[in-house]
Amino acid sequence: MIAIGIIGAGHIGSALARAFSGLGYDVVIANSRGPETLSGLVSELGPKVRAATAEEAARDADIAVVTVPLRALKDVPVEPLAGKIVLDTNNYYFERDGHIEALDRGEATTSGLVQEHLPTSKVVKAFNHILAADISPTGVPAGDPARRALGTASDFPEAVEFVTGVYDALGFDTVEVGPLSESWRIERDRPAYVKVQTAPELRENLAKANRLP
Ligand SMILES: NC(=O)c1ccc[n+]([C@@H]2O[C@H](COP(=O)([O-])OP(=O)(O)OC[C@H]3O[C@@H](n4cnc5c(N)ncnc54)[C@H](OP(=O)(O)O)[C@@H]3O)[C@@H](O)[C@H]2O)c1
Repeated sequence: MIAIGIIGAGHIGSALARAFSGLGYDVVIANSRGPETLSGLVSELGPKVRAATAEEAARDADIAVVTVPLRALKDVPVEPLAGKIVLDTNNYYFERDGHIEALDRGEATTSGLVQEHLPTSKVVKAFNHILAADISPTGVPAGDPARRALGTASDFPEAVEFVTGVYDALGFDTVEVGPLSESWRIERDRPAYVKVQTAPELRENLAKANRLP
């Protein structure tokens, strides 16, 4: 079975640990304070989930998730994630992360910064515009016109394919936003951000987005 290494065990990291283990994946999850601080989460989620350091989670992952505040990106291990698909859930909150000029000026994207930090990984934007509490399986089947859609963006088709499969298994349609250079369309404060929307509505919201919010 594929092992998912999750770096970050907060709202999104723990929701994704629950979701991935529910889909049958093995999960290795890490935070900044050490595996011993995750014993409660691990015992709640059961035998498919174990805690580790960030370095170990990255190393043991076949596919990884980076879900730390953007300001902690510099600490995410690089070498153990080389060549791997890395799902990036990050959003930029200057109030939390400090100002990052290239983002403030609309000259970079949050996922582009993750890709720069992990130059040989296959970064894919995923789960950034849904609240952690809404990530559980919906039971809504493909083809239902009311099915919620989520966006994804990557420069690597195989990474988009993986995210599309996971979204579908959890009950979401996928809308491809394009390469990472277009991923600002689902960043914070754009029309598609954290909205419950169908695929046609999401496409409409992506088209309406402005480069600077
Ligand atoms: N909350 C949401 O609904 C939501 C939705 C979509 C996207 N996002 C985005 O996803 C990212 C994570 O959000 P969140 O709400 O899950 O954050 P959170 O609840 O604050 O959790 C952050 C996690 O990252 C860990 N962490 C911090 N620095 C680390 C490091 N250097 N190495 C390893 N782990 C580290 C923290 O560990 P410690 O506690 O041990 O420090 C904590 O487990 C953010 O960019 C956020 O904007 C959030």
